[in-house]
Amino acid sequence: MLSVFAVSGVRYGRLDSNVTLACGKSPTGIPVVWHLNRSSALPWHRVTSDGSLVLLQVDQSAQGNYSCYDDRGLLLHSVRLRLGHPPGLLSISCQVPNHTHVRCSWLESVKTFLPAEYNASFRPCIVDFSRKHCDVDHPAFWQTIHTLRVTETNALGFETTYVRFQLHKLLKPDPPESVLAQQLEGYPKRLNVSWNFPSSWPLHDAFPLMFQIRYRPQGSMYWSEIYSEDSSVVIFDALAGHIHQVQVRARDEVNSESQWSEWTPQLLIRPWEGQEDNTKYYFFPVNTEPETSTGKSHNPVHEDEGNLGLVILLVLFSVVILTTVLSLVFVVWMRQRRRHHATKQELTSMVKMKSMPI
Ligand SMILES: *[C@@H]1O[C@H](CO)[C@@H](O)[C@H](O)[C@H]1NC(C)=O
Ligand SMILES: *[C@@H]1O[C@H](CO)[C@@H](O)[C@H](O)[C@H]1NC(C)=O
Ligand SMILES: *[C@@H]1O[C@H](CO)[C@@H](O)[C@H](O)[C@H]1NC(C)=O
Ligand SMILES: *[C@@H]1O[C@H](CO)[C@@H](O)[C@H](O)[C@H]1NC(C)=O
Ligand SMILES: *[C@@H]1O[C@H](CO)[C@@H](O)[C@H](O)[C@H]1NC(C)=O
Repeated sequence: MLSVFAVSGVRYGRLDSNVTLACGKSPTGIPVVWHLNRSSALPWHRVTSDGSLVLLQVDQSAQGNYSCYDDRGLLLHSVRLRLGHPPGLLSISCQVPNHTHVRCSWLESVKTFLPAEYNASFRPCIVDFSRKHCDVDHPAFWQTIHTLRVTETNALGFETTYVRFQLHKLLKPDPPESVLAQQLEGYPKRLNVSWNFPSSWPLHDAFPLMFQIRYRPQGSMYWSEIYSEDSSVVIFDALAGHIHQVQVRARDEVNSESQWSEWTPQLLIRPWEGQEDNTKYYFFPVNTEPETSTGKSHNPVHEDEGNLGLVILLVLFSVVILTTVLSLVFVVWMRQRRRHHATKQELTSMVKMKSMPI
């Protein structure tokens, strides 16, 4: 195996197998005694004729310092036993948060219990052993299919895992940052949403981002969506008086095969409401003492405006009612006068007819 693992006096063995420990170069036939951690209590085992110790079906509890002594109690040999598994396949994934950076990371599918080394073929993918990832800066050849080979090596063997990918399909920005949702004073159906580019995305005209904004009244199943190239939008069709959930995500605008970022955490916001505590922002988590107090100081103003409006409305209403009643009275009076006149005319004509000779 690799030299790093050949630490003198350490023996590596596979779990669940039979492990044979030789008693140094002890001459055959001499009876020997084995100890584990200075105790004569040993796991399930047998000793061969040449004094080797065969540990059967070893589990983790068989690890430790093994020493063999001759029949006079003289130490002949000692070895430290470590048990584990050879490497298995890795599960590898690569993240491409912008055009200048690729990070591939991996997880073991088999827990080996042993120290391991990794090397990666996708050059120059600089391996960070402890965190199990490697980084490529300024990758070239975006459209070609790359093959990444990661080899895990430990004292019991090695295993190589292959993944194939195209960088442009893996491009996935980090989510937008500093997302803010605000009421628009005087507009009970509008919301203003703004955000910043992800800080890992270069602020450069050559790399435009497309944003998707989704929102819905809390409790609704259906999202409404807006797309934007700017870093703010106004929602015009919010449901008045309801708290809304708002989220934003981003994608490279040019490369249609790239991936959307994750959604930003949910933001809660209620549109402006004239009569109520209205300038309060609903964030997750809700707090904002000072904003609540500014909201309250605005309240009396709006109430006064409301009262004045009511008085004007009442006066107008009374004037309309009065006018209507007066006109009705006038109409009725006119009609009666006309009928009176008509009856008189009928009488005179009847009298005239009767007096005519037949
Ligand atoms: C371990 O040794 C025992 C007894 O000698 C034998 O029956 C068994 O098959 C061996 N197991 C392995 C995995 O070699
Ligand atoms: C095992 O052996 C090593 C090296 O000889 C020694 O440092 C360590 O203390 C020993 N451990 C036990 C539990 O005896
Ligand atoms: C022997 O010592 C090692 C530490 O060196 C420990 O991990 C192991 O559990 C010990 N084994 C026994 C059987 O006490
Ligand atoms: C990685 O390690 C394996 C096993 O030790 C070796 O065969 C392979 O050539 C190494 N690859 C690179 C790129 O160093
Ligand atoms: C690309 O992303 C990496 C990882 O988040 C970051 O370290 C690097 O600064 C970013 N590059 C640019 C140009 O923003």
